Amino acid sequence: MISVQDLVKKYGSFVAVDHLSFEVERGELFGLLGPNGAGKTTTISVLSTLLPADGGTVVVAGCDVGRDPGGVRRRIGMVPQEIALYEDLSARDNLRFWGQLYGLSGSSLHTRVDELLEAVELTEHGRQRVSRFSGGMKRRLNLAAGLMHGPEVLFLDEPTVGIDAQARSKILDLIRRLNDDGLTVLYTTHYLEEAEQLCDRIGVIDQGRLAALGDKDELIRQIGDEDTIRFVLPPEAFDDLVAAAAAWGAIGDPEIRRGRVVLRVVDGGRALPQLQAWLEARDLPLAHLEIERPNLENLYLNLTGRALRETT
Ligand SMILES: Nc1ncnc2c1ncn2[C@@H]1O[C@H](COP(=O)(O)OP(=O)(O)OP(=O)(O)O)[C@@H](O)[C@H]1O
Ligand SMILES: [Mg+2]
Repeated sequence: MISVQDLVKKYGSFVAVDHLSFEVERGELFGLLGPNGAGKTTTISVLSTLLPADGGTVVVAGCDVGRDPGGVRRRIGMVPQEIALYEDLSARDNLRFWGQLYGLSGSSLHTRVDELLEAVELTEHGRQRVSRFSGGMKRRLNLAAGLMHGPEVLFLDEPTVGIDAQARSKILDLIRRLNDDGLTVLYTTHYLEEAEQLCDRIGVIDQGRLAALGDKDELIRQIGDEDTIRFVLPPEAFDDLVAAAAAWGAIGDPEIRRGRVVLRVVDGGRALPQLQAWLEARDLPLAHLEIERPNLENLYLNLTGRALRETT
């Protein structure tokens, strides 16, 4: 349904999307996960024909974005990161506006507006001005606007940013329901938990490049089954630790991140007693110890050297 091959997009000489490739099947809920500035909005903008590509091939719903942008636009819905609604108009009039833009009129327009207000649970607020809506309500209406013309594919660019947990779970439920009804969804987020909960498959994007791709289990498999040990160590002991760690099955050199040593090992159960003995021999405490089995959070950290949380 979506095929992206070797996509390149530059702003001047800055490469924002760097040879990105991925496919999304019909009916799939695909998540593009990455930190701020990773290139998510840029990618979705090219896929939805808002920006021209500088290289590569993008086909959406059977139409090439470069050769048949009109065909793409008819088949896709776009829910932008920045809310695109008229604050002074009512919810209903906003939807009417988008519907008319897509060529709907008369009773089909009316019916569609009613259906979508119902779907996003805003029927009771249909006549209210958007300026009086909460953030969550605006997000839901923004989503409805992208669905007015009954698209086959829906692009959602961080649709839950800046709203509370309850409003967020409402939006996620709605997206899940739309997907259950057959809509293909491309969803961008910098929230790992959202991608993990919501998406069938995830592409991790960082600095314009695809860092990993697959379903949750595949992604975890890609990082292998190494364990991560974190603890606090007096800085003067760090060099000695680096020298010792290889013998405990360390993978790469230990690093210091956010004040803690991060030690990746083949087998945490085997390495830990060795670490303890090493500390005891130096009369050092084992402080703030944490052992982690592979999980998506680790994957992300390993791929980008940053936690997604730090970017929120
Ligand atoms: N119009 C522009 N001109 C120049 N650089 C841009 C422009 N738009 C985006 N960029 C840069 O391109 C990179 C990718 O930006 P993009 O908005 O696609 O990231 P993003 O993943 O959507 O981030 P966010 O989570 O903050 O929305 C960033 O480094 C950004 O600063
Ligand atoms: Mg963005």
